[in-house]
Amino acid sequence: MAEATCSAPGKVIFTGEHFVVYGAKAIAGAINLRAYATATTRNDGVISISSEDMGIHAEWRGAELLRESKRGASERLRPIREAVAGLIDKVKGSGLSISINSQIPRASGLGSSAAVSVACVAAGLYAYGYKPSHSEIIDLASIAEGIIHYRASGVDLAVSTYGGVISYRRGSKPAMIDIKKPMSLLLIDVGTPRRTGEMVRRVNLLREQYISIFEKLREAVEEITAECELALVNNRYERLGEILTINHNLLRAIGVSTKELDEALELAMRNGAIGGKLTGGGGGGCLIAVVNEEDIDIVYKKLSRAYNVYKVAIPQEGVRCDSLRTE
Ligand code: MEV
Repeated sequence: MAEATCSAPGKVIFTGEHFVVYGAKAIAGAINLRAYATATTRNDGVISISSEDMGIHAEWRGAELLRESKRGASERLRPIREAVAGLIDKVKGSGLSISINSQIPRASGLGSSAAVSVACVAAGLYAYGYKPSHSEIIDLASIAEGIIHYRASGVDLAVSTYGGVISYRRGSKPAMIDIKKPMSLLLIDVGTPRRTGEMVRRVNLLREQYISIFEKLREAVEEITAECELALVNNRYERLGEILTINHNLLRAIGVSTKELDEALELAMRNGAIGGKLTGGGGGGCLIAVVNEEDIDIVYKKLSRAYNVYKVAIPQEGVRCDSLRTE
């Protein structure tokens, strides 16, 4: 038996979520919260998947479910199973046991499902002695993301795989943005988790009704993304904060913000943040707050009285193999 442990980072989207689904450029950065997966080869044709943080486990032989730890567990783990079945096909392997352990809060807009898919696929490939390219990992992980998210653009998988800070347009290879100085951001978790797929579906309904308005908003997002890239490259936090706030208000316009997210942004700004925005699918989850470096600890302390707040460091390494034991 061979065993590999791989990990992949969660992400924040600085600009362009939702509009990236329809061709706009987005900017995303890898954060220092990671999903870990340990894959062990087996020769009995069984795929066994357990998630420590979700507390569930299921096993299949082919498409046949052999056991699940509780009702519904196999359905929740099915996207990963499908991706793992794809990788076993690719390497002409037999079975795999995969154990998942993720530090990334789920349904918070931080790319937890993409990071888990990337880590699982990479671990499975490495365990079978295959050294995958980034695009091979993304191709297999998209099998899982395609089941989890409606119309996924691929931005979450791209940033989790490549790491760093990337600009991304659907269908193209991501471009790395050179951040000269690492930066810290505050992420405020407002709770009320929603499924990204559900939010993407809602936006699509709105878009179908107001196609030309949506197109104008998409053009505005292109400008916002261009400004954001300049602010990031030049370490201009004031400008970054303002640009993100503009993007937040545009996301409000398409109905993906909530009272809780808007209130969190207001409170963050009253307590010293320069600006911020929701990140990811919206409908709940996390809000990014941009804060000057010298104020970050005090703002963190103040906001922590009302919310669960994460201080995250950007950029981070993408997918990596943390350990490998061959047969
Ligand atoms: C989710 O992190 C980002 C969305 O734009 C969906 C996607 O791009 O796949 C909402």
